[in-house]
This record gives sequence, C-alpha cells and structure tokens, in this order.
Amino acid sequence: MLNYLMLLSLFGVSVCQQKKPNIVLILTDDQDVVLGGMTPMTSVQRFIGNEGVTFTNSYVTSPICCPSRASLLTGLYQHNHYTLDNSLRGGCYGTHWRQTLQNNTFATVLKEAGYATFYAGKYLNEYGAKDAGGPELVPPGWTEWHGLVGNSVYYNYTISNNGVPTASTDQYLTDVIRELGVSYIENQTEQQPFLMVLAPPAPHQPFTPAPRHEGTFSNVTAVRHPNFNVAAEDKHWLLRMPPSPLPASALPELDRVYRSRWESLLAVDEMVADVVGTLERQALLDNTYILFTSDNGYHVGQFSQMYDKRQPYESDIKVPLVMRGPGITRNSSRSQPVLNVDVAPTIIRLAGLDPPPHMDGRAIELVMDAGEDEVEEIEERYMLVEYHGEGRNGSVDEKCPWKYDGQQLAECYPQYDCKCQDSRNNTYACLRYFAPRVNMKYCEFNDKENFVEVYNLARDPYELTNSIDTLLPALKHWYSFVLARMRVCVGVESCDNPLIFD
Ligand SMILES: *[C@@H]1O[C@H](CO)[C@@H](O)[C@H](O)[C@H]1NC(C)=O
Ligand SMILES: *[C@@H]1O[C@H](CO)[C@@H](O)[C@H](O)[C@H]1NC(C)=O
Ligand SMILES: *[C@@H]1O[C@H](CO)[C@@H](O)[C@H](O)[C@H]1NC(C)=O
Ligand SMILES: *[C@@H]1O[C@H](CO)[C@@H](O)[C@H](O)[C@H]1NC(C)=O
Ligand SMILES: *[C@@H]1O[C@H](CO)[C@@H](O)[C@H](O)[C@H]1NC(C)=O
Ligand SMILES: *[C@@H]1O[C@H](CO)[C@@H](O)[C@H](O)[C@H]1NC(C)=O
Ligand SMILES: *[C@@H]1O[C@H](CO)[C@@H](O)[C@H](O)[C@H]1NC(C)=O
Repeated sequence: MLNYLMLLSLFGVSVCQQKKPNIVLILTDDQDVVLGGMTPMTSVQRFIGNEGVTFTNSYVTSPICCPSRASLLTGLYQHNHYTLDNSLRGGCYGTHWRQTLQNNTFATVLKEAGYATFYAGKYLNEYGAKDAGGPELVPPGWTEWHGLVGNSVYYNYTISNNGVPTASTDQYLTDVIRELGVSYIENQTEQQPFLMVLAPPAPHQPFTPAPRHEGTFSNVTAVRHPNFNVAAEDKHWLLRMPPSPLPASALPELDRVYRSRWESLLAVDEMVADVVGTLERQALLDNTYILFTSDNGYHVGQFSQMYDKRQPYESDIKVPLVMRGPGITRNSSRSQPVLNVDVAPTIIRLAGLDPPPHMDGRAIELVMDAGEDEVEEIEERYMLVEYHGEGRNGSVDEKCPWKYDGQQLAECYPQYDCKCQDSRNNTYACLRYFAPRVNMKYCEFNDKENFVEVYNLARDPYELTNSIDTLLPALKHWYSFVLARMRVCVGVESCDNPLIFD
C-alpha cells in the first residue's frame, strides 16, 4: 500500500537523485605523468583512480602554465584566447582576458545555472598585478574567491580573500588551500550544488616540500628513460645548444629536483584525502564528481635539457587526468585521447547543461555502458599544441657567452652550463594525431630553418628519432595541411573536424 508519506519519500528520493552534482577540480602546477609524477599520489590513486577512471592519453594545448590554464578555464585553444605566455603583455590575465574571456569560463556558466562556485590557489600567473586591477578584483564566475596573487610559491605570498589581499609569510600554501577547501565543504548543505577548484602550487619550482615531508624520498633519483641526457642532434635549434649531453656534474641537481617535486606533491595528496573524507562526512561524496589534473607536464634531463617545460615532447605536453563520480566505472582506464580544452565542456555537461559551441574542446563521455570500456579502440582525433617561445634579458646571465640580441633567449644560467631553456624561435605548433593503431606527432617550428620534427610514438615512445627524413613527402604534406587547418579552427565543430569544415 502506497501511503502519502511513502509517496513523499519517493518524491524526495527522486528529487534528491535529480539534484545537480557537485564538481571538484584539483589542478596541480607542472606535474608530469610520463616521468612518474603520479607515483607519490597514493591517495589520489586510492580515492579517485580506484573509484573512477584514469585517462592514459591526456594532453594540454600548450606546455606552459598561463596559456594552458586559460585553455582549461575557457575551453579554447591558444589561437582563440591569445594568452601567448606567462606575462601580462603576452596576454596572461591581460586586458582581453579581463574584459572578455573570463566572462565565459565553466565557472560563469555554472554560476549562472545556480551553482555556488569556489576557487582557491593559483589562477593565472599575473592575477593580482597592479597594472591589472590588483588583488581587489575578483574574476567573474566565483562566489567564493581565494586566488593567489602571482605565480606559484610555497611561502611569502598574498591571497585575495574575496578581494581582500591577505599576506602570509610562513604558512605552507598547499595546507592553506586544503584548509579553505575543507572549511568550504563543511559549510555546504545539500540545498545548492557547488563547483570547487583547488589549485595548489606543487610541484612547481622551487619544489619546496612541507617540512613534514622533507627527506621522504631521499633515495629517489630522476628516472633514466632512454631519452635521459642523450644528445639531441636531430631536434630543433634550442635543443641542439651545448652542452649536449649535460656533464655528469649536472646530474645530482636533476636528482634533487626530481625528488623535491615528489616530496612537494605529498601535501597535495593529503589535501585530496582530506577533501574526499570531508565530502564523505558531509554525505556529499556520492553526488560529487572529482577531477584531478595538471596544467602541463615537465622534463628533468630529457634530451640533455635541465628541468623545465615549454617543449613539444610527451614529458611536457602529457598530463595526469583521473575522475570519479556518479555513473563513472570504478577503477577503469581509458586510452581515448583527451585535451585540457575538454575540461570546461565536460564540467558544463556534468552540470547537466549543453557546452557552448564556441568552445574548442568537447565534453568527455564519462558514463559508459557496463563493459564498454574493455573493448575500447582509440577513435581518430586531431589535437593541436601551440607554443610561443620567449626571450628575456633578465634571465640570460651576463656570464654566459650568448649575445643579448634583442631578447631572443631565456633562462640561461652558468650553473647549468648556460644551456638556455627557452628562445623566441622555440615557437612551434604540433599536430598530435591518434587513430586506431596510429600515434603520431608532427611539429613545425617558426625559426630560420622552418624546422620540422616528426615522431611515430607507436614505434618510438621516447621520441628518440626525428623521422622527418623518412617521412613520405605526401604524408608530410598531409600533416602540414591538417596542422594548418587546426591552427585556424574556431569552436568544437571545426576543431573536431578540421578536414570537412570551411
Ligand atoms: C564581462 O563581465 C563584466 C562584469 O563582470 C562586465 O563589466 C563586462 O562588460 C563584461 N564584458 C563583456 C565583453 O561582456
Ligand atoms: C619571506 O620574505 C622575507 C622578506 O622578503 C624573508 O626575509 C623571509 O626569509 C621569507 N620567508 C620565507 C619562508 O621564504
Ligand atoms: C565556513 O563558515 C564559517 C562560519 O560561518 C566561516 O567562518 C568560514 O569562513 C566558512 N568557510 C569558507 C571557506 O567559506
Ligand atoms: C633508502 O635506502 C635505505 C638504505 O638502502 C633503505 O633502508 C630505505 O628503506 C630506503 N628508503 C626509501 C624511502 O626507499
Ligand atoms: C584496479 O584494477 C587493477 C587492474 O586494472 C587491479 O590490479 C587492481 O587490483 C584494481 N584495484 C581495485 C581497488 O579494485
Ligand atoms: C638587454 O641587455 C643588454 C646588455 O645588458 C642591454 O644592452 C640591452 O639594452 C638590454 N635590452 C633590453 C630591451 O632591456
Ligand atoms: C634561434 O635564435 C637564436 C637567438 O637569436 C639564433 O642564434 C639562432 O640562429 C636561431 N636559430 C634558428 C634555427 O632560427
């Protein structure tokens, strides 16, 4: 017999199930996946990976913080958001961003749809700059704002607490972000769905671990894949710069950086455990999607480079991506290639809305029929990576032999034998092409040599051989043509179908 109370409770249940899910995005800074960057993340594995899906081919549109974060927030490729580098002048939190782009992020869409929205941690590198409105300015879309002023650091920073700049010298930033996130979740009721972004500084330079984690990985050394400290004779100009390979005296520093990065990530891993635990205590976990990813990858010693990002190789452009939430198959893995421009449309779709067609990425299919992921075959996908090289006087040490010729070089220091990490002509666009049994990368450099690099990742996963000399001319022409189409694509329809769209 169905009485009124039972009807009410049935009604209650169905209302409850239809309630919009909460969404939590955790975004690390410079965390690679190729060099073992996820190894220290045991809680991420346990609470997100084991409970959800791991994407094994997750890429970013640009291997550098600010352009990549702009893509993540807006769903746009670099050629559509014009955030070219990490400087205000290069579009990072510049006028175009503040006046136009940041009005159309996944946050503004969700807020409009009734979500409470929370951000804590690093936003765009130039956020809070005096010439850009200062830390009093709260980006639209966020109802609760704790944005870090400037670039990632671990101590001595200013946070804009809802527009009120608050300086701190001695509180470890990742722990502050964790406390803000946990406190916010504790304040949530089931009435209003929320979106939360937690953006800790780790494992960005200077790779400072929390004091409690110092020395945890004192035995660990940088991973020596076949491309570690090998000469880069068939690669573009910057990589051919001497010394190549690095002298043995440089290697202990690479080991130190590698283990410090892991140690700095342990506080992030604890943050994830606390966030999941708090969601569970608040009875919110079952209706919450959690995404974990990074803004770009990193290299430590690959092809005789020191440590940095900014290069088109897998270490730099491939990132971790794990997700859990209602309907996602537990402990599953997907090889379907995905991009950081997919994150905004995916979040919007998870919130039950249609992603705006002007976004270049596509919503990732997350809820699959049982068993479907076991027979997954990679669907064809063309993806674009764009990078604008920088040169800066200040970061070329005057003890180095390189000329200060109009700010053409950057990050050249005598302690690294003056090997530069960037240059103006380290400017390139790559086509990253996946299809069943096809896994290719084709890059064109904007330099005096019109340099081209091609890798068949299926055969050469460490990108040891630039196969441009053996590439059939017709195939080179084809890749070049598709790349050119990708570089002008606008919106999901053309970026997803570069060949059939006018
Ligand atoms: C963006 O939003 C702000 C308010 O947050 C508004 O002042 C501005 O005019 C908007 N810009 C555009 C291009 O819509
Ligand atoms: C913070 O900055 C002050 C002044 O610049 C400096 O003396 C102090 O050593 C810094 N503290 C840390 C933990 O970096
Ligand atoms: C949670 O609520 C308490 C009490 O109202 C408040 O002091 C605190 O700032 C809130 N936390 C966040 C992160 O909003
Ligand atoms: C480090 O090496 C020592 C001695 O070889 C070993 O006892 C210890 O377990 C190692 N620690 C880690 C964290 O691997
Ligand atoms: C997850 O799957 C892997 C194999 O894909 C298996 O080895 C592991 O035991 C599983 N873990 C859990 C917690 O189910
Ligand atoms: C770069 O540094 C050189 C050498 O100190 C100096 O002559 C030149 O004016 C500087 N250029 C700029 C744009 O600052
Ligand atoms: C790249 O730029 C540097 C610095 O201006 C220059 O010396 C070099 O010749 C350039 N190489 C190419 C291939 O354009």
